[in-house]
Amino acid sequence: MSDNGTTKDLTPTVFVLFGATGDLARRMVLPAFFQLAQHGLLPEEWRLIGSGRGERSDEEFVEHVRGALEEFGPSPDDGPWDEFSQRLHFAGGGFTVDDPGQLPDVVEKVRAEIGDDAQLVHYLSLPPKAFTGYTKALGEHGLAEGSRVVFEKPFGASPEGFRELDEIVHSVFDEEQVFRIDHFLGKEGTQDLHALRFANGLFEHIWSREHVAQVQIDVPEDLDVADRAEFYDATGATLDMLVTHLFQVAAEVAMEPPVSFKATDILSARESVLTKFRPLTPEDVVLGQFEGYRDLDGVPDDSDTDTFVAARLCIDSGRWRGVPFLLRTGKRMAAKQQRVSLILHRPKGPVDDVPANGNVISLSLAGAGSVDIDVMAKKPGPDLAMAPARVSLDLSKIPGGDPLPPYVSLIHDVLTGDRSLFTTSEGLAQTWRALQPVLDERPQVHPYVPGSWGPAEANELAGEHGWLLGQTEA
Ligand code: BG6
Repeated sequence: MSDNGTTKDLTPTVFVLFGATGDLARRMVLPAFFQLAQHGLLPEEWRLIGSGRGERSDEEFVEHVRGALEEFGPSPDDGPWDEFSQRLHFAGGGFTVDDPGQLPDVVEKVRAEIGDDAQLVHYLSLPPKAFTGYTKALGEHGLAEGSRVVFEKPFGASPEGFRELDEIVHSVFDEEQVFRIDHFLGKEGTQDLHALRFANGLFEHIWSREHVAQVQIDVPEDLDVADRAEFYDATGATLDMLVTHLFQVAAEVAMEPPVSFKATDILSARESVLTKFRPLTPEDVVLGQFEGYRDLDGVPDDSDTDTFVAARLCIDSGRWRGVPFLLRTGKRMAAKQQRVSLILHRPKGPVDDVPANGNVISLSLAGAGSVDIDVMAKKPGPDLAMAPARVSLDLSKIPGGDPLPPYVSLIHDVLTGDRSLFTTSEGLAQTWRALQPVLDERPQVHPYVPGSWGPAEANELAGEHGWLLGQTEA
């Protein structure tokens, strides 16, 4: 969220949710939409039209939404359910190039209620393979003009897939209409990377190779993928997390100061630095697969899919030359964490026993986020002895704060037209460019023990600092 775009400016909006009865909509989008209502962040006039293949009455869809909220929260009984539910509609019969089903009629009906000029927002809560068909259908049935369109990740699961989809999307929409979600950019902690840095000399002055020895973006996960093994097996950690979330967070850390905090300036600062990502070589990347993965239902016995990836990324900008960005994520690891850490060089003296990881600025991206700074301090007592200590700021405790989950924050940005936390076509092309050599020559996949920190081979990437997570905390 940048400093432009506020709820009070919002024009009446018709939010069309494609895949409204699917899993993602139930788990994420519908609960997020309801939270927007709870936070008073929806326009005064809005309607949500669920689109799906089956036939449902509005009343049945209302029941469906209620069920989704009861299961995935917040509870409809926490309000404002009555007012909310009256604005839900359903358009059945599917939506294809040949047959738009009931959607055009329902859009026309709700526009008659809230205004012909109501902003149309299309949210494609659909499996990625459906993106092209629905995009073409939106163009074909006259629903693209002046609208906004939201794509879930992944926006193309390979460089070729990305290019094909991009071409089709641009044949129907202008880039400014397109909102590609990477929910890591919507996390409170991620947004604080640029807020904290540019609002505090304390951080901005040391945000460069002169002071930073290494950056670590570490997202270990303890869960496996049993509930979506088939999808995951066709994707793997590199495509699911590295080229998407971890690269975007790396760009957040590495960007040059934007000209201002306007959405377009933040967006262009973050995306520009993606052009400086040096293509990864197979030596920069360690892949792993946890033992027992192949026994999961839906996973072939000989699957070579990576459930773990660690990479050492170089960013060829004056600011970061020579500073390794270490990125790591995996399933069934020892802990669930989401940490960005900047390890500072040791001070040049006169204290000569500062450990390699004695000075670290670290942000947790989990939940409402936190900022933790590891410092060396005098150990209280009679002697002048040094000891490591941590200063922590829980971002949820900032007075007057109202932390929003990433989907809530990002859907709000779509409603206000703020693209600062979304990815662009050019930026994604750069992420694929940086990954390409590893796709051309895929590194070997090493086994690792479930509940561990991944294959030992990944430790070498981190050099003398080692991976911070797993050393001091689990
Ligand atoms: C998703 C990935 O995009 O992000 C998952 O597909 C991953 O594999 C998830 O677990 C992590 O999201 P969160 O909500 O835990 O930050």
